[in-house]
Amino acid sequence: MENKRINKVGWQSPSNIALVKYWGKRSKQLPQNPSVSFTLSECRSETYVSYEEDDRFGFRFFFEGKENPAFGAKIEKFLLDNKNSFPFLDTLSLTVESRNTFPHSSGIASSASSMSAFVMCLMEIANQIVGKRFDLQTASYFSRLASGSAARSVFPKMALWGATPCFEGSSDEYAVSLANDIHPVFKTYRDSILIVSGETKSVSSRAGHALMEGNPYAPARYAQANENIKTLLAALKSGDLDTFINITESEALQLHALMMCSHPSYILMKPNTLNLINEIREFREETKIPLCFTLDAGPNVHLLYPEREAEKVEYYIRNVLVDYCDHDRWIADHVGDGPKKLM
Ligand code: PMV
Repeated sequence: MENKRINKVGWQSPSNIALVKYWGKRSKQLPQNPSVSFTLSECRSETYVSYEEDDRFGFRFFFEGKENPAFGAKIEKFLLDNKNSFPFLDTLSLTVESRNTFPHSSGIASSASSMSAFVMCLMEIANQIVGKRFDLQTASYFSRLASGSAARSVFPKMALWGATPCFEGSSDEYAVSLANDIHPVFKTYRDSILIVSGETKSVSSRAGHALMEGNPYAPARYAQANENIKTLLAALKSGDLDTFINITESEALQLHALMMCSHPSYILMKPNTLNLINEIREFREETKIPLCFTLDAGPNVHLLYPEREAEKVEYYIRNVLVDYCDHDRWIADHVGDGPKKLM
């Protein structure tokens, strides 16, 4: 029998946390408004893809050592939807092995990290098979098609996804790097993720995006997001922490307000989400430490602060905030450098 060519590639890619939120999409995974995020570091996916020549396309997906067709279905669908871009897949069998560095039940969305890690592997395979060199813009474009917010995970430090007149080169099709357009204070920012609940959310992000279509506040929201992008980009550049805090907290609350006034309405915050928000605001008032919160589409609270405040804030987390966390759980993360090749 002829020897089959077997090869393996591996990439890790981080999760990201949005400051101006992407909430609402149109047509083929295009955003209704631009969004900006910090690229994280400790919360990431590590993905390996083995491929071998075959007479047709084959696909198997293993998550944390166990075959998991349900998790793999989204990637397989992405590959089938985009097979014209990767014609060499017609005669390849892929085996994907993926794991997350953050605990399974931490309520941290893993689609941004897992989809961008997979896309980086796919770009690497394209490089090995057809000699197609890839850039981060292409990786961001395909990550976006796999899972919207994943478009932002491929860039170090910070990324902007969505066209805005305030940033040349920005696009709805892919994210762009903000690493050279931010004040040094943001390059080492901390994100302590306070785990209020590790349960799976009752309404998926996918359903949440879809509900924006009938939301009476949608046009006002998209206008406001565009304004917030403009103000935030300026604050990121100058290092204006007061404006950063104002916009970031308002965006988090707006995201959840949109859920509360969609039809049907729903609430993803838990009582301890609000308790943490109140504690954080009081602590900021008392100490003048410029920390603030943001929320993803879930109950957990992301506590954002400059690295220089880390000692004081972490003391405060351990002594006060953990009381509101599920089994005292929190994850110490910080702004990171984007995807990394593993092999
Ligand atoms: O990429 P999705 O479809 O999981 O949507 C992400 C939506 C938010 O996390 C709530 C906001 C964002 O911009 O990441």
